[in-house]
Amino acid sequence: MSKLEVVILAAGKGTRMRSNMPKVLHCIAGKPLLQHVIDTARTLQPYSVHVVYGHGGEVVKETVNDGSLLWAEQVEQLGTGHAVEQVVGQLHGDSTVLVLYGDVPLVTNDTLGALIDRVENGIALLTMRLDNPTGYGRIVRDAEGDVQCIVEEKDADADERLINEVNTGILAVDGSKLSGWLKRLENSNAQGEYYLTDIIAMAVNDGHTVNVLCTVDQDEVAGVNDRVQLAHLERVYQQRQAERLMRAGVTLLDPARFDLRGTVETGEDIIIDTNVVLSGEVKLGDRVTIGSGCVLKNVTIGDGVMIASMSVLENAVVGSNCVIGPFARIRPGTELGAGARVGNFVEVKNSVLGVGTKVNHLSYIGDTTMGSNVNIGAGTITCNYDGANKHRTVIGDNAFIGSDTQLVAPVKIGDGATVGAGATITKDVNDNELSLTRVPQKGIKGWKRPLKMRK
Ligand code: UD1
Ligand code: CA
Repeated sequence: MSKLEVVILAAGKGTRMRSNMPKVLHCIAGKPLLQHVIDTARTLQPYSVHVVYGHGGEVVKETVNDGSLLWAEQVEQLGTGHAVEQVVGQLHGDSTVLVLYGDVPLVTNDTLGALIDRVENGIALLTMRLDNPTGYGRIVRDAEGDVQCIVEEKDADADERLINEVNTGILAVDGSKLSGWLKRLENSNAQGEYYLTDIIAMAVNDGHTVNVLCTVDQDEVAGVNDRVQLAHLERVYQQRQAERLMRAGVTLLDPARFDLRGTVETGEDIIIDTNVVLSGEVKLGDRVTIGSGCVLKNVTIGDGVMIASMSVLENAVVGSNCVIGPFARIRPGTELGAGARVGNFVEVKNSVLGVGTKVNHLSYIGDTTMGSNVNIGAGTITCNYDGANKHRTVIGDNAFIGSDTQLVAPVKIGDGATVGAGATITKDVNDNELSLTRVPQKGIKGWKRPLKMRK
């Protein structure tokens, strides 16, 4: 096998997106279209990946550049052949060249591998059959069924327009022939463009094979031209991911209402309810259950964890058998020890909760380190911010914090300490001590409620 070099065409304007942003930077599953194509190309282990970008496309370079891509600017979009010409000088010369479109995001490694295998010192074309071929280049074959050329819709005669086998645009070509063919391209056609597709007839004339791979999966080769197509391919992509997860042993109560925008590693017997969004890098242990409406980003969740509905977790590590939510918010820098509980309307930020520690109701825990088996009463607030700086709260093992307490940081609560409800703690609390800050209760005998005055 010769070297593989990939050329991704991404210079098109994308007018129909009606967007200020280059088309190929619009996202599917949170990742730019172009990045999908690059990532798939990389699975083929190519020698090099070249991207042809349009003028004003510096932002494309900034967004997807991973340092190993080779870029070529196509200042004026004079056609797909002209686009490939922009990189010809960068190509190795005797490689196999695979041409992809930056706005065709769902093409698979399997299909591209099969296409490359068909090049045989000529060209391999990826085609499809459509009930309505309007708009596409048509694959013209002779009586023996051998491909002769591709005719663009605008150049096709009435008979050619009836052909329902069309060019997807994706092709692989023997790189040693490519530059010679590109030099011979002319733009004397209906659109005044240099068509890459004109190299097919040249290859045939020069006696080279043109092989075809006809795909039955139209979504795989579908391009994105507007936001309706973008949304369609988003659903196709999500459906594919959902199926992969279900086959890997994850229960999705409704695969149509599940979104993965990134990657997920999964254990056994995970159950995910409806409208869950996972993004970034997510790791889920065995027997994790995630309730409806939860959003998890860059989190590692241990075995047996239950995350009840409407909880939001980001950049956190959750130990095994924790119970979270409903309506919990776990913010970046949080680590929950095994068996910890974070209940409804609790926000935890940049804090460590030890094994078995509970914060079950209506609390804010920020910049706090808590030992194990701590019990935080309802309505507890760590006052971590003095208006200028953040300070830490440290709470020892087995401490008990009564409800409606403010812990004014920096402050330490000792092991086994108890804080009575309604306290405002501004000084450290010793181990095993009870701290009270409330005004002693007094009873007023004989007191009467005011009576309504008579007019
Ligand atoms: C092209 C094919 C057509 C095929 C169709 C599939 C040619 C001449 N025609 O037509 O046979 O059926 O795709 O969608 O190749 N691009 C550049 N620079 C350019 C022109 C295009 O980078 O100067 C990029 C676009 O960004 C896009 C891709 O090439 O990603 C295809 O361009 P597009 O204008 O959509 O090609 P079509 O005319 O639709
Ligand atoms: Ca097109």
